Amino acid sequence: MENFIKKYEGNAPRYTSYPTAPHFNTDIRGEDYSIWLSRLPEKEAISLYLHVPFCKSMCLYCGCNTKIVDMEEPIRAYSKTMKSEIKMVSDFIGKKLPVSHIAWGGGTPSMMPADEMESILKLISERFELLYDTEIAVEMDPRILTKDRIFHMAEIGVNRASLGVQDFNNDVQKAIGRIQPFDMVKETVDNLRDAGINSINFDLIYGMPFQNIETVANTARQAAALSPDRLAVFGYAHVPWFKKHQEKLEEYPRGDSYERYLMNQTYKEELIKAGYIDIGIDHFAKKDDEMAISFVNKTLNRNFQGYTTDKAETLLGFGVSSIGATPQGYVQSTTLLKQYREKIAKGELPVVKGIKISDEDKLRRKLIMNIMCYFEVDISPLDKANREKVKSKIAPFIQDDLVEFSGNNIIIKEKGRSFTRLIATSLDTYIDKGIAKHSQAV
Ligand SMILES: C[S@@+](CC[C@H](N)C(=O)[O-])C[C@H]1O[C@@H](n2cnc3c(N)ncnc32)[C@H](O)[C@@H]1O
Ligand code: SF4
Repeated sequence: MENFIKKYEGNAPRYTSYPTAPHFNTDIRGEDYSIWLSRLPEKEAISLYLHVPFCKSMCLYCGCNTKIVDMEEPIRAYSKTMKSEIKMVSDFIGKKLPVSHIAWGGGTPSMMPADEMESILKLISERFELLYDTEIAVEMDPRILTKDRIFHMAEIGVNRASLGVQDFNNDVQKAIGRIQPFDMVKETVDNLRDAGINSINFDLIYGMPFQNIETVANTARQAAALSPDRLAVFGYAHVPWFKKHQEKLEEYPRGDSYERYLMNQTYKEELIKAGYIDIGIDHFAKKDDEMAISFVNKTLNRNFQGYTTDKAETLLGFGVSSIGATPQGYVQSTTLLKQYREKIAKGELPVVKGIKISDEDKLRRKLIMNIMCYFEVDISPLDKANREKVKSKIAPFIQDDLVEFSGNNIIIKEKGRSFTRLIATSLDTYIDKGIAKHSQAV
């Protein structure tokens, strides 16, 4: 395995969309998005994503779009802008569409004052149709969550919490600038359950300083002891050309690709032992969890938040840097707070790039998502010449017995699963065109 990992070392997209974000272009603007919005099919449930780009302090590994603030005022101003954006978008849609999932991400959405979060959700319920089972998920940082705040979130309808846990080891926590002992996470989990927020996800990361197979085995066991419903176990994405603060982590040794592989395997073994099933490249869920059921029934999806049970084709993004998807294509809003504010103040949608998706893109997206979710795909829908191209791209993996090609089926074998992102690039026609810099694939 060590030899294979060295041989296939490389970077690849995480395929949370196809085409992937680095291939979005600036020809797509707010005007295009407004037309796409006006054409959304009536009665088809959509999903919403709300990005809150604020945190209390910067975790040194962080790759998210966020900014450090220590006052409420800019967050209140942001919330006001976000409400104008929600009104503008719903005006363009021109009808009250049903919503199946709402996800608050960031940054740290719970940095937003409670009354602001409540008034945004109230506005959403006026402009969209919330269903009796609409999922309202919020990414939460246990270090800044009070019991009162948790109870308030439950009161306004939040029913899923996604907690940034990362790692329980003290040396790791010190190096990454995020002190968050086990007892603090336990207290948050207890408070969430007391408040009735019973769907709990944990985010964990391997590949950061001071992590090794022993430390991640301990973190995995401690995490499982708190019995979250789902766990996302991410390989640390070191992208200092994009996130300068990550350079500070370069003073410590970090595991190479093979050690990352071993840490990932350790997570797998420990969490499976604890009763979870592994899903796709980086998720785990309890056997009776909706995500595990979707995985078994092959109805799992992948969007910008990673694996999801969400089946909606349309995901509307609100806030800076948010990405939206409609049947016609993808859009991304400006990552600049000032530009976001100015555009909305002028009555313009804050979209700065995107991509129209062709039928060919849709077909390839389906194939790529299939391989990312289930490690296998039937490429019969591609014509013969394109099937041959795919086959020649994955030939080295077939020769190394990591992939089986049978009929028109690509099946990634158990030992080839660490290379799924790289194997998926064989179906990506944009990968050779761009200069996109992705994170480490293993
Ligand atoms: C927006 S944060 C979660 C909510 C909250 N801000 C927190 O950290 O507790 C989203 C997740 O992305 C993951 N993440 C952030 N930077 C990462 C990186 N460079 N590589 C891998 N995962 C990363 C972390 O697991 C983090 O919990
Ligand atoms: S990991 Fe979460 S809390 Fe830490 S800086 Fe990033 S978004 Fe903020």
